[in-house]
Amino acid sequence: ASQEFTGNLKREVEKLFDASLRLTVPDGTCVETEVAASLPGKPGDYQCNNAMGLWSVIKGKGTQFRGPPAVGQAISKNLPASEMVETCSVAGPGFVNLVLSSKWMAKSIEKMLIDGIDTWAPSLPVKRAVVDFSSPNIAKEMHVGHLRSTIIGDTLARMLEYSKVEVLRRNHVGDWGTQFGMLIEYLFEKFTDTESVTETAIGDLQTFYKESKTKFDSDPDFKEKAQKAVVRLQGGDPIYRKAWAKICEISRTEFAKVYQRLKVELEEKGESFYNPFIANVIGELDSKGLIEESEGARVIFLEGFNIPLMVVKSDGGFNYASTDLTALWYRLNEEKAEWIVYVTDVGQQQHFNMFFKAARKAGWLPDSDKTYPRVDHVGFGLVLGEDGKRFRTRSSDVVRLVDLLDEAKTRSKTALIERGKDKEWTPEELDKTAEAVGYGAVKYADLKNNRLTNYTFNFDQMLSDKGNTAVYLLYAHARICSIIRKSGKDIDELKKTEKLALDHPEERALGLHLLRFAETVEEACSNLLPNVLCHYLYDLSERYTSFYSIHQVIGSPEEASRLLLCEATAVVMRKCFHLLGITPVYKI
Ligand code: ARG
Repeated sequence: ASQEFTGNLKREVEKLFDASLRLTVPDGTCVETEVAASLPGKPGDYQCNNAMGLWSVIKGKGTQFRGPPAVGQAISKNLPASEMVETCSVAGPGFVNLVLSSKWMAKSIEKMLIDGIDTWAPSLPVKRAVVDFSSPNIAKEMHVGHLRSTIIGDTLARMLEYSKVEVLRRNHVGDWGTQFGMLIEYLFEKFTDTESVTETAIGDLQTFYKESKTKFDSDPDFKEKAQKAVVRLQGGDPIYRKAWAKICEISRTEFAKVYQRLKVELEEKGESFYNPFIANVIGELDSKGLIEESEGARVIFLEGFNIPLMVVKSDGGFNYASTDLTALWYRLNEEKAEWIVYVTDVGQQQHFNMFFKAARKAGWLPDSDKTYPRVDHVGFGLVLGEDGKRFRTRSSDVVRLVDLLDEAKTRSKTALIERGKDKEWTPEELDKTAEAVGYGAVKYADLKNNRLTNYTFNFDQMLSDKGNTAVYLLYAHARICSIIRKSGKDIDELKKTEKLALDHPEERALGLHLLRFAETVEEACSNLLPNVLCHYLYDLSERYTSFYSIHQVIGSPEEASRLLLCEATAVVMRKCFHLLGITPVYKI
């Protein structure tokens, strides 16, 4: 049968083994097809591991088979004919090893080159998702944790968007907490004319926050005024609302600088947005009998947690949890999202687990956590400094994210100048490359680790051109582009007229890795693990290096085919960069 490649190689192989198992297994025996990519150095490209398990199910039932190897043989024999398959054989106690046809592999890559890499996009069973990320708190510090959330969230959004999911990128800013009482009162004290207060007048909003906090903690009169201010703000007093809006606006300008540098787009729907809906949502939970009184507060008791989830404070006010429950209700019912992903540090895991559980109890979500509508908390670890403690800069105990990004860019520019690039390139080219490399380095250093682990922030390491860094990968891509340029061939013409061949082992290994792109993105996306894609990208550049260090491209008899392979590698690398939010460079 001719197999139309959907992009997901593993899925295609699974389909073949599914069909084979249906023929092999006696009617009524239920088995789940187990297919895995073979480890490097092992025979075959994919392996089906069903024979042993199947044997233990059928051996007591008068089967014609005599042990697992025979079951394996049958699985192999019953594999439908497919142009994908070169050979299929059985090893050891019944491992069925499938070798893909190099010809088919080459043809599939050629097809991608012509039809575009989007034809390899995964398809997910969801139409619309919310990614709730970045989400700093107004006037409080936007710390490195928020940088992590911004970087990880953006990548997840990009992977979902690539998979044809409509993504609502949400900035759930903390713009409604009790801190506003003291901030507003402090604003009134410092400035008689609050209307005309500007960013420059306040200066640093974080310092402003600290000053007001000091006053709040030391001056009882001020504290009382601040507490009253919260009530007036939440009651809708126009003067307080105006002052609140002013503070939010100044914060927003600050945040925008980070987003603009990182080229991250997201839409602010802060905590205040959900405020008008909270009472109704709490009312719904109450009518379902979920809410109880406890020490003057209103709470939801949840199985498996030793504390209840507080949804109304003893003073009648709402909190982080009531807002999150309401935002979830809104996202499910008003925005019709089928998958809602929250990106914050792991420290907030309990909060998420608890309100997810409350939502399940209310019947808003299915009981099983992998069925849709689905919610996920994407937690991440701390960013550490060289001293192994929470990352801080020399001068202050908060890290100004903008400064951090600027420094990465400056350092990468210095490195380019040291290599004499300022003499070869225009100032714009130099600046653009420094920016792509500097910001790319910060992003990649964050994304390449399993997000749950802490990582150490180190400029020298992330900006090194050796090892698993963005710099190394960006340079690798640029070198491929320069080989194609140097050949003097029109690559679009080659795509139409020339054939790709994967005759040599290094060519084939590279080709196979290219074909595994879609299954990798799908895995990274479904498990919400960007490091899976980073790992793939690094591997890809290593396979490319193995190929290129052995085989001549320009001037060889295989030149056309090899240029196509170079181009396919560059295309896939660029897609990886794009999904990771990194701008590729073409010259180095
Ligand atoms: N503002 C919170 C913080 O800075 C993060 C909000 C995350 N999103 C949410 N829906 N709770 O810690």
